[in-house]
Amino acid sequence: MLLFGNKFYLIFISLWIFGLYCIFTSFHSTPNNNKVFEDRIEYLQNEVDSLRQKLAQLQSGNNINDQVKVGNENVQCQTLENEMKRLKRALRSKNGGDGTTSSREEPSMEYEKLRRKIEMQARELTYFTTDQLNKISGKLTDDDKQKWDNVILRFADQSRVLLASIRNITEVDGYQLWREREHASLSKLMQARLNSLQSPIKPCENVKRVTCNINKGCGYGCEIHHAMHCFHIAYAIGRPLILFSDGWRYNSGGFDQIFLPPSQNCTTSSA
Ligand SMILES: *[C@@H]1O[C@H](CO)[C@@H](O)[C@H](O)[C@H]1NC(C)=O
Ligand SMILES: *[C@@H]1O[C@H](CO)[C@@H](O)[C@H](O)[C@H]1NC(C)=O
Repeated sequence: MLLFGNKFYLIFISLWIFGLYCIFTSFHSTPNNNKVFEDRIEYLQNEVDSLRQKLAQLQSGNNINDQVKVGNENVQCQTLENEMKRLKRALRSKNGGDGTTSSREEPSMEYEKLRRKIEMQARELTYFTTDQLNKISGKLTDDDKQKWDNVILRFADQSRVLLASIRNITEVDGYQLWREREHASLSKLMQARLNSLQSPIKPCENVKRVTCNINKGCGYGCEIHHAMHCFHIAYAIGRPLILFSDGWRYNSGGFDQIFLPPSQNCTTSSA
């Protein structure tokens, strides 16, 4: 009987310890998980810092190879920073802290459209009203004008706060992770489409192309704008763009001497 009693105690104590263990681990599972997040963020922060240092070193030199490296490291830096932002946001919404709703799957189409419409309409209203207020200001006497200009300043302040509040909705509605994922996948899709458009499987000579001369004789911004316009058309009609840039006023050696060419293996115009 005594032996059975001892065994009973042993079993009871084991169960008790096991129970304590379960309670302990379940209480600590969230902080542990957060710790993983925090460690990762700290690691990324260190990586970003060291890349920044390297970048600064490379930028101070003016070796051509180094300049190429600067570009690469810049991209790497950006990628790490984006991941860090994503993690920070995930951590914040996991903790439910600072009033943010935890991350949700995806918004309804109506919600997302309405949010954008409100932002757009508020901005348009600001433009319109500012323009009207300025017009009135031009017709006032000096004394009235001063008072009126204060009204304009107040209105500008209030508009900025309103627009910031509308933008901040994206930080608290829980859909920001979804938005970032959508942006990234859309960007990937477009890049893939442009790549396949610009690198046709058939030999270049057998493909209908769009030839565009960047040499418009206008300013640099205007010429790049023109080239983009050609690219839109090329994409819309499904033909690779051939950018013609011999004797370009901004670099007589051509566009490809400075920038990556729009295509690797389809670069000759049919003409
Ligand atoms: C928008 O959010 C930022 C960052 O959370 C905050 O600093 C700012 O005050 C907010 N602005 C408004 C108008 O709510
Ligand atoms: C051009 O390059 C792409 C990707 O590198 C390749 O898939 C395609 O077959 C190439 N086209 C020709 C004609 O070599």
